[in-house]
Amino acid sequence: MLTSAQKQLKDIFFCPEESNFYAYCLETLVLNHCMGSESIIELGSGDGSPVIKSLLRSRSNGVIHGFELNKLACEAANSKIREYGLSENYIIHNRSFFDSVRPQATYLVSNPPYLPALDNKIYQPLLHGGIDGITVTKKLLTLDYENVLVMVSSYSNPEGLIDYAITKSYYTSNFIVSPLTFGYYSSEPKVKDRIWELQKNNMAFCSNNIYLLAGVLFTKRHKAKTDISTELVQVMRSLA
Ligand SMILES: C[S@@+](CC[C@H](N)C(=O)[O-])C[C@H]1O[C@@H](n2cnc3c(N)ncnc32)[C@H](O)[C@@H]1O
Repeated sequence: MLTSAQKQLKDIFFCPEESNFYAYCLETLVLNHCMGSESIIELGSGDGSPVIKSLLRSRSNGVIHGFELNKLACEAANSKIREYGLSENYIIHNRSFFDSVRPQATYLVSNPPYLPALDNKIYQPLLHGGIDGITVTKKLLTLDYENVLVMVSSYSNPEGLIDYAITKSYYTSNFIVSPLTFGYYSSEPKVKDRIWELQKNNMAFCSNNIYLLAGVLFTKRHKAKTDISTELVQVMRSLA
C-alpha cells in the first residue's frame, strides 16, 4: 500500500534539488542570452516549475513551448502558469514531443528522462532513458536544432553522449555542473543495479550516494566559438 507522498512521487516528477538546478542552468545558459525574439521549445515540462522560476528571474519575455506527456504534470504546470500570470510566455502541450508538429525554435531545452534501466518498468516509466540513460537525449540531438541545453548525468554514459553530439556536429559551448545526492527515482534498486553495471564498464561515474549533473549547452559547430567537450568529459569522470 503506497502512502500519499509515495503516490505523488510516482504520479509527477518531484525532485526540487534537480529541478532548481535545471532552472538555474536555463536562466544562466539560455534565457539571459536571449534578446526576446528567440523561440524556445522544451521536452518534458514536468510540473512547469523550472521554466516558471527561470522566467520570473530572467529578463526574458519570449515564448517557450513545452511538451509534456504526463497529463497530471501538465495540469499542475498549467495551474502554476496561470497563478504566475505567464500564460503568454509558457505554453504547454500535453503531447509527445517527438510525435508533435513543433514550432520553429533556436533553442531546444530539456531535463530529459535519463534513468538507465534494462526496461521501462520502473517507478515512473516516462523517466526511462534506455539501457544507458541517453536514448532520449541522443534523439534530441538528431533534430538539428541550433542550440540544445540538456541535463547530462555522470551515471548515464556521459562520454558516449558527448561523442555522439560531436558526430551530429555539435560543440559543447558551455556547461555548469553540480553534485546531487541519489534521490527517490535514481535509488530504485533496478536503476541502481544498472548504474553499477555501467560503472564497471566505465560508462557511469558516481560514488555510493553522489553523482554529478551538468547543464550542457550544445551548439552547432558553425555557430560555436569554442569547444569545451574535453573539459566536460574530465569533470564528468571526476567521481571515477
Ligand atoms: C526528468 S523529468 C523533468 C521534469 C521537469 N522539466 C523538471 O526538471 O522538474 C522528465 C519529464 O519528461 C516527460 N517526458 C518523457 N518523455 C516525453 C516525451 N516524449 N514527450 C513529452 N514529455 C516527455 C516526463 O513525463 C517527465 O515529466
